[in-house]
Amino acid sequence: MVPENSPYFFMREFSNEELSKLLVTKVEQLKKEKAQTQELNERLEEHLAELEETTCKLEETQEELEKERDNLERQVKLKTEQLLKAEKLTAIGEMSARIAHDIRNPLSTIKNSVEIIKSNQNNMDAKTKIQLDRIDRALFSMSHQVGDVLDYVKEAPISKKRKKLSSLLQDSMKKVAIPKNIKVTLPKNDVVIPCDFERIEVVFVNLIMNAIQAMEFKKGEIIISITQESPNIVLITVKDNGPGIPKTLIHKIFDPMFTTRQIGTGLGLPSCKNIIEKHNGSIDVVSTVGKGTTFLIRLPTVTEWESISKIGDKEKLTDFITSKAYLKVI
Ligand SMILES: Nc1ncnc2c1ncn2[C@@H]1O[C@H](COP(=O)(O)OP(=O)(O)OP(=O)(O)O)[C@@H](O)[C@H]1O
Ligand SMILES: [Mg+2]
Repeated sequence: MVPENSPYFFMREFSNEELSKLLVTKVEQLKKEKAQTQELNERLEEHLAELEETTCKLEETQEELEKERDNLERQVKLKTEQLLKAEKLTAIGEMSARIAHDIRNPLSTIKNSVEIIKSNQNNMDAKTKIQLDRIDRALFSMSHQVGDVLDYVKEAPISKKRKKLSSLLQDSMKKVAIPKNIKVTLPKNDVVIPCDFERIEVVFVNLIMNAIQAMEFKKGEIIISITQESPNIVLITVKDNGPGIPKTLIHKIFDPMFTTRQIGTGLGLPSCKNIIEKHNGSIDVVSTVGKGTTFLIRLPTVTEWESISKIGDKEKLTDFITSKAYLKVI
């Protein structure tokens, strides 16, 4: 008999019984290991599936991040361009304002002199009269352009007083030469609004002039109407039946210096927008080519102070009293 601790122990001969016992133990061990391996495999597959899902999600997130980065890059580029443009426009604006301001006085001297010469028309030959009329038209066009620039750059604060819209519209009409081919219909109703009437007049003059210029020498009509849209808001519409504004241009008309007219400054509508917004109002446009254009102006019929004290909202009232707007009111 070979002792168990001897290196020759396994070399001894096993009995059949011993061999089958060993075999059964081995098979059981293998079965156990197989089951364990299977379980491990299953867990591995689960982990793999999870990993795949996480990878997918990560890829999606990366794609989104890349899109977001591209979007941000585009926005930064656009904002930088806008900033540069704004800086340039400010410089050009300041220069134009200075030139416009300096030109105004000599321009009115020339105008007055032409008026004096024209008052002696009796001793004037026909050719000189024609020349003087030309000078007059050129002067009108120059003072309109100078006025446009000054209206646009005017930074003076708004000084509001109550005024009837009807008298505001009539005063505006006096400042425009209405051609014979154009009929202007004013509203029959009326509303009182708190406003800086000289500035609001500039708005109506610009809108009426634009409508006249758009209709050129054709027969046309301008209809102005007033509607109390809500207790505190009045809607004023200036409607013409001119050529209308093409869809490709309509989004540009409030941009400074956008014009389709040869002698236009393109500052008329931006000035209107500035003035209306300074009154806490809004200006919009609807237009159909071949049918006409309507400008819609919405203005408050009460001051900020009145609207807040009407609401009786204590929090808003405190906010208002501590704001800059309050300082403007008092
Ligand atoms: N009622 C209208 N009908 C058709 N087009 C209009 C009308 N009002 C404005 N537009 C268009 O909008 C443009 C911009 O108007 P805006 O008043 O700002 O400048 P402008 O009239 O061209 O120049 P300016 O006011 O200095 O004489 C005009 O050139 C014109 O193309
Ligand atoms: Mg204009």
